[in-house]
Amino acid sequence: MPDSVAGGEARNGMTGSPESTRGSLRRRAFILKALAAVGAYVAGVLAVVGGRNLVGPVLPQHYRWSLWPRSATAPTLVFKSAWTPVGVVADIPDAKTTLVTVKAPVEDAWASGDQPVAVYVKRSGDQLMVFDIHCTHLGCAVRWTQGAGRFFCPCHGGVYGADGQVLAGPPPLPLYQYPIRVENGTLYIRPRAGGTS
Ligand code: FES
Repeated sequence: MPDSVAGGEARNGMTGSPESTRGSLRRRAFILKALAAVGAYVAGVLAVVGGRNLVGPVLPQHYRWSLWPRSATAPTLVFKSAWTPVGVVADIPDAKTTLVTVKAPVEDAWASGDQPVAVYVKRSGDQLMVFDIHCTHLGCAVRWTQGAGRFFCPCHGGVYGADGQVLAGPPPLPLYQYPIRVENGTLYIRPRAGGTS
């Protein structure tokens, strides 16, 4: 066989031997599978992102957070009872914001029965505010710093004022504020979602 013909076959990967032909076919099959896998991965990512943007806004807030963690609502436990006692108002430190752990009947995917639920209680005389501890960006627990008079989120630098309003960072919403009521000197909060009334 002339050299030029043999060279042309080699360049085409067809040297004529069955082994080299099989090797060439295996390489092509491998490349095609790799391309298909990359295409499926890209399609999957696009489907998830598109689906979240389409479906997320119409879901209730609680489910929106759990299914689409990039949205703005924190994963607060769902109380079962309508009003949950926080404590006797006279026992709550005045002119301060205090972290209080409430025993609340909860029901969600991870817990049921009475569970500790932490909330921040701000008291100025008769004025009371109760905040969810979760940052409205991605749900990290915020920390109150009395000296600065601010809530700080350790995750991405979110900062909230004493009234829960966003002062800096990525949080899209103020801290969630529980509805409250005072009855016979005791402070109660109402669940934020999924309560019985
Ligand atoms: Fe708080 Fe991101 S979770 S700033």
